Amino acid sequence: MSMQDTGDQADGLRHLQSARARVLAVASGKGGVGKTNVAVNLAVALAQRGRRPMLLDADLGLGNVDVLLGLSSRYHLAHVLAGEKSMEEIIVTGPAGIQILPAASGIASMASLDIRQQAGIMDAIGALESRLDYLIVDLAAGIGSEVLQFSRAADHVLVVLTNEPASITDAYAFMKVMSRDYGLRDFHVLPNMVRDLAEGNKLFERLATVAERYLHIRVHLAGRIPLDHFLRSAVRAQEPLLLRYPQSPAAKAFADLAEQVLAWPRPTEHSGGHQFFVSRLLESDASGR
Ligand SMILES: Nc1ncnc2c1ncn2[C@@H]1O[C@H](COP(=O)(O)OP(=O)(O)OP(=O)(O)O)[C@@H](O)[C@H]1O
Ligand SMILES: [Mg+2]
Repeated sequence: MSMQDTGDQADGLRHLQSARARVLAVASGKGGVGKTNVAVNLAVALAQRGRRPMLLDADLGLGNVDVLLGLSSRYHLAHVLAGEKSMEEIIVTGPAGIQILPAASGIASMASLDIRQQAGIMDAIGALESRLDYLIVDLAAGIGSEVLQFSRAADHVLVVLTNEPASITDAYAFMKVMSRDYGLRDFHVLPNMVRDLAEGNKLFERLATVAERYLHIRVHLAGRIPLDHFLRSAVRAQEPLLLRYPQSPAAKAFADLAEQVLAWPRPTEHSGGHQFFVSRLLESDASGR
């Protein structure tokens, strides 16, 4: 990864290219390591920096985006697919103006649509592109096929992990499957709930060394989020940490993460973008994997 590609120059370039929304998937392997909090606070931090993020809630399980923000999203993509709701009707506006698109089982059921219906849904999602810069996908835990398909279709994959054996093993397993089955070569890694920067760095080094040697992939450190009791209070209050406790250590780390994300070079291997994301999802469904 080019390290010079930061600062003002990159910022200018980004605005030139800003017509296409970037898709960032937040994965982890192991559950409960902080994906949803990362997705939500990253979205808020990007909104605070003048970007227009949309959160795609790909996991309507307990305690995910809607619950974390105290929103009730009763409808999701499946209702759009069934023709019962329009895209506008299912999108929820959250704190700091972030937009939330509840997907749930919607994407899975896209496989059963005929070509004309698929084209219709692609148009509907594609039309959203003009109103967002970043689509952040909050994934379910595990390495189920939906998790893999979303990750494969994204421009960037962010892997959240904590300093415990099960989390490290599962993060590794996720990267192994993604690299082996889908040829993904670059992963951004985010140690969460670390005691200090040194612990975060060490955790990253451990994973990166093994992954680079045995999987032949590139692993980039995205940031380090400290263990922070303010985060637990924010979760209880159903408010993003960045808004409730902006001065807390983890809030500052999320702001740093957003700065990193803004500096990530756009992947060159494909054109990216929301339309592209959906067509890739459909492509993979059609191949029956
Ligand atoms: N940096 C942190 N400091 C303290 N607690 C944290 C931190 N990050 C996450 N947690 C705790 O972990 C819990 C789970 O976080 P979160 O819901 O974001 O995980 P997840 O990976 O999305 O879980 P799931 O796999 O179930 O979707 C939070 O409710 C919070 O209590
Ligand atoms: Mg979650």
